[in-house]
Amino acid sequence: MFSLLWSIFLLLSSSRASVIQDFQVAQPPVVPADTKSCTVEIISHDFANSFADGPAITQLNPPQDCGSVGSWAAITLNLTVTTNGTQFDRLGIFTFHNVEIWRTSTFEPTIGDGIIWTYIKDVTQYMPLFSQPGEFLLELDNLIETGLDGVYFTIVAATYYESSTDHPPAKKADMIIPLSTLSNTTGDDASVPPAFSLNVTVPKNTVAIYAELFASGNGLEEDWFLNVPDEFFPDISSNITSSHDGFREVRLLIDGLVAGVAFPYITVFSGGFIPSFWRPIGSYGVAELPTYFVDVSPFVPLLTDGSPHNFTLDVVSAETNHTINSNWFVSGILQVILDTTSEPTTGRMTVHSASDYANTSITGFATDFGHFDATVTATRDIHIEADIRSGSDQLTHVVWKQDLRFTNIQTYRNNGLLATLTQTSYGNSSSTHNGVAVLSDIFSYPFSTNFDYLDETLTNWTSSIDHSYDRVLLPNPLRMVSTISNHQTTDGFFQLGSDKSGNFGNGTNNNTFSYSDAEGNTYTRRVNAINSNFNDTITIPLDEVGGNLAP
Ligand SMILES: *[C@@H]1O[C@H](CO)[C@@H](O)[C@H](O)[C@H]1NC(C)=O
Ligand SMILES: *[C@@H]1O[C@H](CO)[C@@H](O)[C@H](O)[C@H]1NC(C)=O
Ligand SMILES: *[C@@H]1O[C@H](CO)[C@@H](O)[C@H](O)[C@H]1NC(C)=O
Ligand SMILES: *[C@@H]1O[C@H](CO)[C@@H](O)[C@H](O)[C@H]1NC(C)=O
Ligand SMILES: *[C@@H]1O[C@H](CO)[C@@H](O)[C@H](O)[C@H]1NC(C)=O
Ligand SMILES: *[C@@H]1O[C@H](CO)[C@@H](O)[C@H](O)[C@H]1NC(C)=O
Ligand SMILES: *[C@@H]1O[C@H](CO)[C@@H](O)[C@H](O)[C@H]1NC(C)=O
Ligand SMILES: *[C@@H]1O[C@H](CO)[C@@H](O)[C@H](O)[C@H]1NC(C)=O
Ligand SMILES: *[C@@H]1O[C@H](CO)[C@@H](O)[C@H](O)[C@H]1NC(C)=O
Ligand SMILES: *[C@@H]1O[C@H](CO)[C@@H](O)[C@H](O)[C@H]1NC(C)=O
Ligand SMILES: *[C@@H]1O[C@H](CO)[C@@H](O)[C@H](O)[C@H]1NC(C)=O
Ligand SMILES: *[C@@H]1O[C@H](CO)[C@@H](O)[C@H](O)[C@H]1NC(C)=O
Repeated sequence: MFSLLWSIFLLLSSSRASVIQDFQVAQPPVVPADTKSCTVEIISHDFANSFADGPAITQLNPPQDCGSVGSWAAITLNLTVTTNGTQFDRLGIFTFHNVEIWRTSTFEPTIGDGIIWTYIKDVTQYMPLFSQPGEFLLELDNLIETGLDGVYFTIVAATYYESSTDHPPAKKADMIIPLSTLSNTTGDDASVPPAFSLNVTVPKNTVAIYAELFASGNGLEEDWFLNVPDEFFPDISSNITSSHDGFREVRLLIDGLVAGVAFPYITVFSGGFIPSFWRPIGSYGVAELPTYFVDVSPFVPLLTDGSPHNFTLDVVSAETNHTINSNWFVSGILQVILDTTSEPTTGRMTVHSASDYANTSITGFATDFGHFDATVTATRDIHIEADIRSGSDQLTHVVWKQDLRFTNIQTYRNNGLLATLTQTSYGNSSSTHNGVAVLSDIFSYPFSTNFDYLDETLTNWTSSIDHSYDRVLLPNPLRMVSTISNHQTTDGFFQLGSDKSGNFGNGTNNNTFSYSDAEGNTYTRRVNAINSNFNDTITIPLDEVGGNLAP
């Protein structure tokens, strides 16, 4: 929606001197309660002019006094940020050993006494990285200028939980390989388009590889789902939205063959739509953007020849030429499993049924400038199989399938001032190794919204969102299956000021969340917030927390 505004910030002159505690609803990480743990501060950094000054970079060594290195029961990161003033939302990229391990986004500050938030991220799955000394980096590009004075005062700490008989060491890969720019001086995500390619050489005795992908749209791609098909772009003001339709597919290719894809979840940053309905409850995913999983194991027989292979990440639309605007930030992680012997793995891919692009359609009609309906659909069926023979003579039959569906129905009315979107995006990805499920991702990410500019000045608007994140996920065999269900409804009003500091808005946000997993852990939270512009207060009429992970 904000092709020119990019992201809006809100000024809320708090009449009461108090620091507002912002949060994204999420389950607390599953960590042992009754074992020794050690907490190490990694970063204490003020992100002010960090576009120019660069990221926070530090050397992180494994603690020597918290159980044996590399066999912890769990590892978590605590990100705590305070900020006071006015600022845009900013993207945060954590990389360790050139591997992106966490993508986050900031809450927008308030003047008065500002805001604080803490998010605890489970990074147990990256234990091979935490077991070796390496460069730890947080890129959080920020800018201080007239009217923008919010500095992000940031503390990052790692907590290592010692393993015990009751809490065995967490499962881990033998090796982690980044699909990243490998930069030591910036966050390691690549900006696409153009497609990002990298040569990867895996050990010859690799028997399985599980990929995790990071992807978020920024700039003209921040609100990609409201971008209109190119066919209708001449029918609307470019002040209102951008081109190249509302479908995005993130693709992973190996030597030019599609290995797997993701239909990304919509993470609305805290300056998105109506900044005041994201205070104090962020949009689901804003503090920990969801990631996507692909079983790359069917490619193992092709990859174990000791030579470099071409891994490609890109993002494409439903247009005939698949084009998108600039600034999708992508990266990936390969969790690599090796054979117990050093003998090379052999085998062959027996089925590769994956077209280069999803099957898409764009339909619709315009009756006037700023008055049209457009529907984009996409379906994706991938089926890849392989027989893999390890050096220790273990035979594994791998079946990797994806079945994804997408519809994006947009209406623009009233000279384009009134937009509605109804999007569905759901699917089922699964992988079995000799019939045993090793990866399973059953998701549904419905998103609907109204966005109503009150007049041609485009300076005030109302909006509402109804969106969900429903996912039953087994990312890979190193982790357990979990079920997350989040439903959030918001509405509000926003008025741009004559200068950056005059913005004004209100909103409500109702959030219902539940988590459960294969070990019987549960967590639920129902929380509603009202952000009022009349008396500059945030009211929380409802906040119920339940489940055995509740504090
Ligand atoms: C996270 O870090 C902050 C800042 O150091 C600290 O105040 C807070 O207690 C920590 N939270 C947890 C759950 O460790
Ligand atoms: C936030 O900044 C204002 C000045 O802009 C100051 O009066 C106030 O004390 C600050 N609050 C905190 C908690 O630092
Ligand atoms: C990053 O640092 C590593 C270790 O010092 C070095 O091997 C590598 O060449 C560096 N990468 C770049 C892109 O400079
Ligand atoms: C990968 O390596 C080959 C040589 O083995 C080289 O020709 C190619 O340009 C490299 N590709 C990338 C993406 O670096
Ligand atoms: C790597 O694969 C991509 C996608 O097929 C292709 O565009 C690119 O040219 C390839 N790079 C090399 C060096 O072969
Ligand atoms: C793709 O087509 C659109 C029009 O539909 C055009 O604006 C764009 O430049 C084309 N992109 C490429 C890479 O050819
Ligand atoms: C693409 O979708 C159309 C319409 O749903 C269907 O008829 C066609 O078989 C699909 N093609 C492929 C390759 O899946
Ligand atoms: C729309 O954009 C044009 C330039 O592209 C600009 O001159 C005009 O002021 C904008 N209108 C609004 C309402 O922002
Ligand atoms: C929207 O903004 C315009 C221009 O500032 C103003 O004339 C109008 O009254 C505003 N509408 C509402 C409902 O605040
Ligand atoms: C939030 O819940 C309250 C109480 O049920 C309801 O009155 C309000 O309309 C809801 N707001 C949204 C945006 O769903
Ligand atoms: C937000 O402000 C608008 C415009 O002043 C008003 O109509 C609406 O009732 C307000 N909503 C809330 C939740 O305070
Ligand atoms: C602030 O205004 C809202 C809506 O108008 C109201 O529900 C709330 O009780 C008010 N809070 C205070 C502290 O007056």
